[in-house]
Amino acid sequence: MCGDLRMEHDGERVVLNGWVQKRRNLGGLIFCDLRDKSGIVQIVFNEDVPEKLFAEADRLRSEYVVGVKGIVKERQAKNKDLETGEIEIFVDELLIYNEADTPPIYVKDDDNVSDDLRLKYRYLDLRKPKMQKNLAFRHQVTHLARDYFNGEGFTEIETPILANTTPEGARDYLVPSRTQRGKFYGLPQSPQVFKQILMVSGADRYFQIAKCFRDEDLRADRQPEFTQIDLEMSFVDEDIIIDVQERFLERLFREVMGVEISLPLPRLPYEEAMSRYGSDKPDTRVGFELKDLSTLVKDSPLPIFFDAVAAGGSVRAINLKGYSDRFSRKDVDKIQESIKVFGAKGLAWIRTGAELTSSFNKFYDQAGLKILADAMDAGDNDLILIVAGTDKVAFDSLGFLRRDLAGKLGLLDDQDYKLLWVVDFPLLEYDEEENRFSAMHHPFTAPKLEDVPLLDTDPGKVKARAYDIILNGVELGGGSIRIHDRALQKKMFDVIGLSDEEADRKFGFLLEAFRYGTPPHGGLAYGLDRLIMLLCGEKSIRDVMAFPKNQAASCLLSDAPSTPNPSQLEELGIRVEYDKEEK
Ligand code: AMO
Repeated sequence: MCGDLRMEHDGERVVLNGWVQKRRNLGGLIFCDLRDKSGIVQIVFNEDVPEKLFAEADRLRSEYVVGVKGIVKERQAKNKDLETGEIEIFVDELLIYNEADTPPIYVKDDDNVSDDLRLKYRYLDLRKPKMQKNLAFRHQVTHLARDYFNGEGFTEIETPILANTTPEGARDYLVPSRTQRGKFYGLPQSPQVFKQILMVSGADRYFQIAKCFRDEDLRADRQPEFTQIDLEMSFVDEDIIIDVQERFLERLFREVMGVEISLPLPRLPYEEAMSRYGSDKPDTRVGFELKDLSTLVKDSPLPIFFDAVAAGGSVRAINLKGYSDRFSRKDVDKIQESIKVFGAKGLAWIRTGAELTSSFNKFYDQAGLKILADAMDAGDNDLILIVAGTDKVAFDSLGFLRRDLAGKLGLLDDQDYKLLWVVDFPLLEYDEEENRFSAMHHPFTAPKLEDVPLLDTDPGKVKARAYDIILNGVELGGGSIRIHDRALQKKMFDVIGLSDEEADRKFGFLLEAFRYGTPPHGGLAYGLDRLIMLLCGEKSIRDVMAFPKNQAASCLLSDAPSTPNPSQLEELGIRVEYDKEEK
């Protein structure tokens, strides 16, 4: 391959196939960079070659596909930026397989074009060395996962795509049935129910590289169609599952990253994650931990502090220790602006230095400010950011700020891998809009045994046997020990407001299966795309997927979704009401 050639091949005759990266005609000499998936090598046509060959070489343009034969020779002028830069190929045979129009995007990593253009011409985009590297890396990870889980006694089993959906909190993608008009399949949001049924079926240890479909708002780390490394195990508890995963992660980091991680990984209870980091997926590469100032300000003369505590909320703060001089007044205004989306009504601040200054000088004298600064362990160049509001507003705002500002200060090192488990999640969260509890993970997650009685008396207090694996502030995966008892599963459906009828209609088959001998079981799923994104140092999962969708969930390459032809709709018994502008 082009990228493999080195000085040790000097004098060898080689055959290469690839794409022309660029061509330069220096009169009697034509240089071409030839590219294949392994890299780039320089090929040369000199005056010694027959005139016809030289003329052919002169026809070459970017992205022409060619085959060449020639001799590897040491270069006079070596190119240190190229791995093959010590040699070049003197060509004596050339075959042009296919010509190319001028490409609408350049095939080079730093080509600064819009994402939509990259997605429309994805086949050109994927020719870029970085994209080739990412896809090859992804293959390496799935290959290793298959090998590892196989070695641990897991069987790879495929579950259906055309099924009824499983609830993972997003909207479903529906597929109409032709043979049963008016009925629809739902694409799986995850293989959750099927993998549990596989445990009832005696599979013992299942895994799958599984496609999942979720109709939800897209973000840099979310796609409507994505991939999980999905697992389930019988006769296990949390510790066994976590141990199997930690050894997987250890091997993964060692073999594909050359990085040693030390086991066991830290396990952080949910409540501690929230109170220290304001997030259930804490990025622990940086400090800036949250502190609760509520008791110190409960009688504060400042209404926003006083009111927040009186209303059952809190006043919390982070200290950008040693970085006050990095933030101007204008920057602080911008910070305040950035947390409005979390419902923060404002941002209070204290700066330390020769004297203490704050956004609430009118209400606090130096002694008053010092009490707060001391509570934040202040030094002499600190910026303390304070948010008052409900716990959720304070956590969301400060959880966002500590990571966002650490990034802006250049404190987040992509090569520093901080893995941890978050455990002891609440089983349920209260949905204010719907006025009922919903499952925090999914309704198949088991409550902690000692908390089961609380399901009747105080469901909000019940803790789940769930765990999430976090890498540098991103949720890589999550899972739980499942309910395997029919009565408890029915109760769980009941607590989240699913009527018996609805539970039976949606999950009757699971409840039915639980009648016939169900092993205790549990599992986990990793977001494969997110894992690869983080390990490749990418900012978006699109850059580690071959054919991702854009912000509007369209595949710009194949132009999906598209309007079906009327006969297809008729066959399905579907009539569409188009909006005027859609027609
Ligand atoms: P969960 O819903 O937490 O759990 O999903 C597991 C992991 O999948 C990834 N993920 C996504 N990646 C890209 N785009 C998306 N839209 C998207 N949504 C989720 C995340 C997430 O941590 N059945 C359970 C697992 C289990 O309990 O075993 C499940 O699907 O990295």
